[in-house]
Amino acid sequence: MANWTLIGLLALCHTCLVAGYTKFPAGFTFGIATAAHQIEGAWNVSGKSENVWDRLSHTRPELIADGTNGDIACDSYHRYQEDVDELAYIGVDFYRFSLSWARILPTGRVDHVNPDGIRYYNDLLNALAEKNIEPLVTLFHWDLPQTLQDLGGWANPKMIDYFRDYSDLCFREFGDKIKSWITFNEPYEICEDAYGDIKKAPAIDSHGVGNYLCSDNLLKAHAEAYHLYNETYRPVQNGRIMISINSIWYEPADPNNAELVALAEVANQFKFGWFAHPIFTAEGGYPTAMVENVALQSAAEGLPKSRLEQFDDYWIQRIKGTSDFLGINHYTTFLITGAGVDPTAKDPSWLKDIGAVQTMEVGGDSASEWLRVVPTGFANLLRWCKSSYNDPPIYITENGFSDLPGTLEDYGRISYFNEYLSEILNVIYDDGVKVLGYTAWTLMDNFEWRAGFSERFGFYYVDITDPARPRTPKLSVEYFKQLIANRELPQDEIFKDPAKIRDEL
Ligand SMILES: *[C@@H]1O[C@H](CO)[C@@H](O)[C@H](O)[C@H]1NC(C)=O
Ligand SMILES: *[C@@H]1O[C@H](CO)[C@@H](O)[C@H](O)[C@H]1NC(C)=O
Repeated sequence: MANWTLIGLLALCHTCLVAGYTKFPAGFTFGIATAAHQIEGAWNVSGKSENVWDRLSHTRPELIADGTNGDIACDSYHRYQEDVDELAYIGVDFYRFSLSWARILPTGRVDHVNPDGIRYYNDLLNALAEKNIEPLVTLFHWDLPQTLQDLGGWANPKMIDYFRDYSDLCFREFGDKIKSWITFNEPYEICEDAYGDIKKAPAIDSHGVGNYLCSDNLLKAHAEAYHLYNETYRPVQNGRIMISINSIWYEPADPNNAELVALAEVANQFKFGWFAHPIFTAEGGYPTAMVENVALQSAAEGLPKSRLEQFDDYWIQRIKGTSDFLGINHYTTFLITGAGVDPTAKDPSWLKDIGAVQTMEVGGDSASEWLRVVPTGFANLLRWCKSSYNDPPIYITENGFSDLPGTLEDYGRISYFNEYLSEILNVIYDDGVKVLGYTAWTLMDNFEWRAGFSERFGFYYVDITDPARPRTPKLSVEYFKQLIANRELPQDEIFKDPAKIRDEL
């Protein structure tokens, strides 16, 4: 008897879990994202110059997991019409893609505009318009022209002018067709991974120093591009402009341990707050915990000044409020397990400056070591953004899951989308978080940076062993298509029960 009651209760509980919110609010929009260097290929044709990822993958192939590069990638430079046809088949409201700076401005500066670069993006924009797909366009998605890296890249304050000039050209050339802009994709990955480590190109590894020089320049460059758009282009073009910040959300390993709760908050300020606090808070500037920790560490190292200095009043005001929406890229959650120096931290470094030990041992896994499946962490991040940044309107500008090459029945991806989207519905309806749109990463398997083609995030499988790079839809194409058609989490059994679908196929 007792057993039957238990089973009954479990069945009931299972039903309540499954029967959460399923319908998206009116006006909620769906899109899919890509980035120029990961899909375009055509790295050396029609006037495009070398970028930092071309340089890294050609000169240090040992840093790419499978020794590949983006020379051909998905060949979107030649096959953008297929990209657009796939997007139209899935039925997206918008397509998020990025512009290749080195394709548009081979010197990095506006002294030489490459007509083929302008032509290529106009062709893509026209193809999208024909299918009624809105463009959401990223100005900088990591592929810095090598010419500018040779001058120091994002560690050079001159980059503020170069980025502003490049943005000016893009607003002028494409602003009649593009109404939604993103300045930077994932500033943390640009500054910490590329200037404070070798995880991304140009792999400068100036840990604890270059990363903070980069953030000073990047945040100022972002603000200058915003003000330029706001003052000069918005009055005639009527668009909107934002920044997309990536987060690994940190949770305390034990939510009842006050010290771990406080440390997780510090870690979130170091990760998300590093770039969000200067833009989205009323007081502006870098987060207090970050300024204090780095100052203490710097003094202990014998430095006369902190490796991370607070902005002066001019720049605090200039950077504050410069994003129409909060763009969030989110994939995963890590745990904070204790105070002290993380065993993987270099000296000095951003990670050491946090003063907390972290672990990835949480949630389900994916093909990427860093990507753990923790849907509730997404909800906690979104609630934290609402309370930390005065309830901003939010676009999820990336979210996705990796599996191994050739996984066509991609249940891992489908269940990841379903669970993460379900958490978005929870925070919209239960907590009033203003999430307005969702962007899945990514249209097709592409050059996944240092992972090469060894980890796959696409809706379409791309066979890179075939020179024609054929594309094959995965099951998630049908999932996302149905989601968008009905504006509701797909209820089909086919998407819920891997065992069943295998029998049916
Ligand atoms: C472009 O790069 C390819 C390798 O991806 C090489 O075979 C080709 O010769 C290069 N073309 C030019 C014009 O440099
Ligand atoms: C954007 O421009 C409007 C209109 O001039 C102005 O009121 C607003 O303060 C500007 N935004 C920022 C962040 O400067």
